[in-house]
Amino acid sequence: MYMPTVRLPGLIDPHVHLRDPGQTEKEDFYTGTAAALAGGFSAIVDMPNNKVPITTKEKLEEKQKTASTQIVCDLGFYFGSMGDNLDEFDKVKGKVLGLKLYLNQTTGNFLLDKKHLSEIFECWPEELPILFHAEEQTFDDVLDIVKQHPRKVHLCHMSTAYELKRVIEAKDKGLPVTCGVTPHHLFLSEKHFKQYGVFAMMRPPLRPQVDVDFLWENLASIDLIESDHAPHTLEEKNSDNPPNGIPGLETTLPLLLTAVSQDALTIEDVVRLCHTGPKTVFGIDQGPDTYIEIDPEEEYVIDQSKMQSKSKWTPFNGWKMKGKLLRITLHGKKVFDAGKITAEAGFGQLLTKDKSIEEDS
Ligand code: NCD
Ligand code: ZN
Repeated sequence: MYMPTVRLPGLIDPHVHLRDPGQTEKEDFYTGTAAALAGGFSAIVDMPNNKVPITTKEKLEEKQKTASTQIVCDLGFYFGSMGDNLDEFDKVKGKVLGLKLYLNQTTGNFLLDKKHLSEIFECWPEELPILFHAEEQTFDDVLDIVKQHPRKVHLCHMSTAYELKRVIEAKDKGLPVTCGVTPHHLFLSEKHFKQYGVFAMMRPPLRPQVDVDFLWENLASIDLIESDHAPHTLEEKNSDNPPNGIPGLETTLPLLLTAVSQDALTIEDVVRLCHTGPKTVFGIDQGPDTYIEIDPEEEYVIDQSKMQSKSKWTPFNGWKMKGKLLRITLHGKKVFDAGKITAEAGFGQLLTKDKSIEEDS
């Protein structure tokens, strides 16, 4: 049978939580990067909210050393701060792709008091973006400080019409802000929380349909899609105190390709949001020998038991999809083919300036 194959550049997910080191029962560098490949991502960027947060050069280098022998796709890192490690900033600037700050309580007690913001804005290297997890009141705080001190800022996971409107205003004023949206805030709304319970519980939470509609209508103002892959074990999710976050690496591309098949967006939108956007915002260039091949016509059902991620659950389990990943070529080598990881552990490269990925353009 004739199979139409479409070739796209390697997708980049700039927002994942791989949990290694410290919580490898949830995910580790091998399973997390294998999940990335199975989801069409040739590069991903890992957040610093590990069990022991990554706020020193020493912790960062330890993490990178472990990663280098385990990863099957390329992996970059963000640094973290709770306001007490400004002297570490210059030491890590060639090793990370940005600084992640949490202005709201989230997994890992990784909270920054906003009184530290001006000092951090002064000290963090100008060329690297600062990423924010900021919801509600703290969202306005971020835009206020960017107005006073314009510098590259990325606002993670837009989930409400209010937030996106404010970003659009800021962009119109010429402020250097970018923003992302997660697939769950596009494909689920608060009614799914009622249906899926803890398996649809994350920060920011799912929102009313009017917010979801606004995100779709204003996709052109969103710079990129970020999965916020946040794996937790089934036991934790079923416990009395379930943690926030859902895995997303293996469902993002299927959901987007299905939306393409329904004319909700175009394949060019997928490339913009999952390749060009993250590539530009975070300066990730994997070169021309990295690409993915998809069959836009193949229909199938999401099966959580087949996921590469350690968390074998997703709210999208059983959803009917159209459009499937066939293969990934990373730096000229086939690393994923017909549902299987074909790369050796350690084949992926660290996305650091010290060991930089070749630049093509
Ligand atoms: C994330 C996690 O589990 O690390 N959880 C989430 O709900 N998104 C933390 C975060 O990004 O806020
Ligand atoms: Zn996150």
